[in-house]
Amino acid sequence: MTLSRGMLQRAPTIGEKRVKMAVRIVLGTQWGDEGKGKIVDILTEDSDIVVRYQGGANAGHTVVIDNEKFILHLVPTGILHPKKICILGNGVVVDLEQLFSELQELKERGIETDQRVLISDSAHLVMPYHKTIERLDEKQKGKNRIGTTCKGIGPAYADKIGRIGIRMMDLLDEELFNKKLEQNFKAKEVWFKMISKKEVFSLKKKSISVLKYKNKIKPLLIDASIYLNEAIKKRKNILLESAQGTLLDVDFGTYPYVTSSHPTAGGACIGSGIGPTRIDEVIGVTKAYTTRVGDGPFPTELNDTFGEILRKKGNEFGATTGRPRRCGWLDLVILKHSVRVNALDKLAITKLDVLDQIEPILVCVGYKYKNKKIEGFPKALNILWNVEPIYKEFSGWKNKTCGLTNYKDLPDKTKRYLEFIEKSLDVPIFLISTGFKREEAIFV
Ligand code: IMP
Repeated sequence: MTLSRGMLQRAPTIGEKRVKMAVRIVLGTQWGDEGKGKIVDILTEDSDIVVRYQGGANAGHTVVIDNEKFILHLVPTGILHPKKICILGNGVVVDLEQLFSELQELKERGIETDQRVLISDSAHLVMPYHKTIERLDEKQKGKNRIGTTCKGIGPAYADKIGRIGIRMMDLLDEELFNKKLEQNFKAKEVWFKMISKKEVFSLKKKSISVLKYKNKIKPLLIDASIYLNEAIKKRKNILLESAQGTLLDVDFGTYPYVTSSHPTAGGACIGSGIGPTRIDEVIGVTKAYTTRVGDGPFPTELNDTFGEILRKKGNEFGATTGRPRRCGWLDLVILKHSVRVNALDKLAITKLDVLDQIEPILVCVGYKYKNKKIEGFPKALNILWNVEPIYKEFSGWKNKTCGLTNYKDLPDKTKRYLEFIEKSLDVPIFLISTGFKREEAIFV
């Protein structure tokens, strides 16, 4: 697709250009924390069902409604819109203690959750021992640690792939559940030798006690693939919500500094049971600059006052762990990689207002390795750790864009920045977020 010049010149208002689509994927194009929560929240208005398709409680989706802040880890963001159905797909790994505490908190804050949350019977459980193993594993790796969220995500997916994971449906069969638990404790003996017998005993007790959720979970379990495909036949609008970002994908990210699932478009099919030909649109969410939390290469990282300013202005602290996020300039190399692996149809740009007073603003347009320009995004980490970004400089707009809802009100310099992104990536921008509140957005 070739974009026409001045694509962003159309004057929009919220809601004016909304297109009803049947099945849409919303995903992160960077290292997570792109502000997907808010975008999903806006798009939920046009949806009947919102599905989380991968990840677990490692995510932290922040939405602000009427000055009230909600951070959702496991429950799909759609829960904040009355009557929408929220589904945890088979691709999600579920920590039941976290899920029910999140639902309880929502209820206490006046959000109706009854009969609105459904879970795939094939989704795997994050068990208490997964978190213990992760803690031991990260410690053992020392300076080569991944910097995970320690929510048990990696070990839970490892068990899934290793074919010893415990699925939601197993909770309904106590005998099978206990048998699987025994099998798991045997398989993990090597880890449990690293902790005291007392700790192993308490871990076993905690793991057995997961059975207490059996009756609570029973009415929520569905075959999500059947449910969703029936919904598609009935022309329902479905939003498939990813957690994390493309550069954290276990195949397409900066491996091994990644999460253990597929936050990409392909992952949406695998994690929901909806086939690829049923997907109507793939939407990428891109922050106007770049952040990363945890370890791993980050070519445009700023270890100077600019980085500090972005962190402060953008409130770049992990919603799940509170860790300060590493901040840097927008990187078109990683974004082109994201556009390709996800076949993005359109982009939502977030946190544009964070750049309001920055001068100058840099955008990485390529990498140099050993003083030579290289093509594309290098998969080999020994190269990625050592690339030198090639920057294009923009003069900052030094004007307030925070809260704007009309494209024509954006400063010309801001429009130039956005048009450059659009043209470089060959993907149209359809939505610009200009603040943390639901209504602070521009539909282009
Ligand atoms: P894990 O998903 O907890 O295994 O962590 C693996 C890597 O993904 C670490 O670098 C985490 O910081 C990162 N990560 C996991 N979830 C998120 C997220 O929601 N936002 C940003 N980074 C994340």
